[in-house]
Amino acid sequence: MPETILCLASYFKGGAFIEECKQQGLHTILITTDDLQDEAWPREAIDEFFTFPGPNLSRQPDITYAVSYLARDRQIDRIIALDDYDVETAAALREHLRTPGMGSTTARYFRDKLAMRVQARDHGIPVPDFVHALNYDRLREYMASAPPPWVLKPRSEASAMGIKKISHPDELWTHLEALGDRQSFFVLEKFLPGDVYHIDSIISEKEVVFTRSHKYGMPPMSVYQGGGVFVTGSVPRGGEEDLALQELNRQIVEAFGMVRGVTHTEFIRAHEDGRFYFLETAARVGGAGTDMLIQAESGVNLWREWAKIEVNYLRGAPYRAPVTQSNYAALMVCLTGEEWPDVSRFDAPEIVWRMPKAHHVGMVVASPGYDRVQQLVSEYVPILASDYMAVAPPMESATGE
Ligand SMILES: Nc1ncnc2c1ncn2[C@@H]1O[C@H](COP(=O)(O)OP(=O)(O)O)[C@@H](O)[C@H]1O
Ligand SMILES: [Mg+2]
Repeated sequence: MPETILCLASYFKGGAFIEECKQQGLHTILITTDDLQDEAWPREAIDEFFTFPGPNLSRQPDITYAVSYLARDRQIDRIIALDDYDVETAAALREHLRTPGMGSTTARYFRDKLAMRVQARDHGIPVPDFVHALNYDRLREYMASAPPPWVLKPRSEASAMGIKKISHPDELWTHLEALGDRQSFFVLEKFLPGDVYHIDSIISEKEVVFTRSHKYGMPPMSVYQGGGVFVTGSVPRGGEEDLALQELNRQIVEAFGMVRGVTHTEFIRAHEDGRFYFLETAARVGGAGTDMLIQAESGVNLWREWAKIEVNYLRGAPYRAPVTQSNYAALMVCLTGEEWPDVSRFDAPEIVWRMPKAHHVGMVVASPGYDRVQQLVSEYVPILASDYMAVAPPMESATGE
């Protein structure tokens, strides 16, 4: 019997991970939600396909019962979370089945924004000043000492759409009152105007073996809440931003105890002092086409590399980091009113990927020249904004990953 890998996916993604596992000879099991059963999963690479009543796979004890039931007559060797939402569930299942891999304590650092803040701060990594929305004396002290504006954000429910900008203590108390018993699931922190970056990496046996650094066109919160074209692209390799991000990324990986897999980590470079502040991290492949952006830059498919790392680890074989190609690339995405708008006017030969998603125009451009990529972005983004973009609702599912 081949080794068995169980993948959890509360969102339609990660097909390349499953395909790579299958190609490497594993027995593959996917659990996704009922709603997602008709998505374009790579069925030929999935040996056993199960669905679970949604909206996601986190409902306990049901998911534990379901997986334990499967384990009655299957030896499950590894459990993998394909979506961010599944990171804690997968960790809890590993703890329950005593399966190797990231456990609950570590998973928490990759899911809970308060846990991330505390752990980063305790390891000397700069973070925006913050306080848990818990003890009212502490909140009052915090607001008296750290001048507004602040942001009140959900610790793990994700999405910039749930983030509230707050300019006066009265507003905070109003929000907390409305939140009632849910308030302790929030963190209050200083709003730092600045540029937002993400660095995506591959980790093998605690070593960062691959990274690519990127800068968002507009901060994701402005895109979600104000509407706009979502843009992210490579920063000059070996340049000042890239080196600073790589160093901070190494510190995060070490502080958070990441052993193997992929990470997507975000930083804000504050306009005020030019320093990078840790924003958030995740133990997963970046979404919304970030995987395609990185493939265009480097030739590396993060899903496949992650699968190779897991398979090698399972077999006790060393993992070799991929040989990379060097391109610059950018990803542009916007929501459209039309289901499948005519995009033929975007015809540059540098377009290497188009997002196959209704009500979206998304593409990746790539070139060996940084300037050429910038040129294409400055040519296409205004066209997307004026002729394609739907004004509302804000982008929910496609970005911010
Ligand atoms: N302290 C902050 N200062 C300024 N902007 C922030 C701050 N925290 C979050 N943001 C904005 O909100 C966006 C989303 O925040 P983030 O913590 O990355 O949550 P998520 O991506 O899970 O929604 C960021 O990309 C940034 O634009
Ligand atoms: Mg984010």
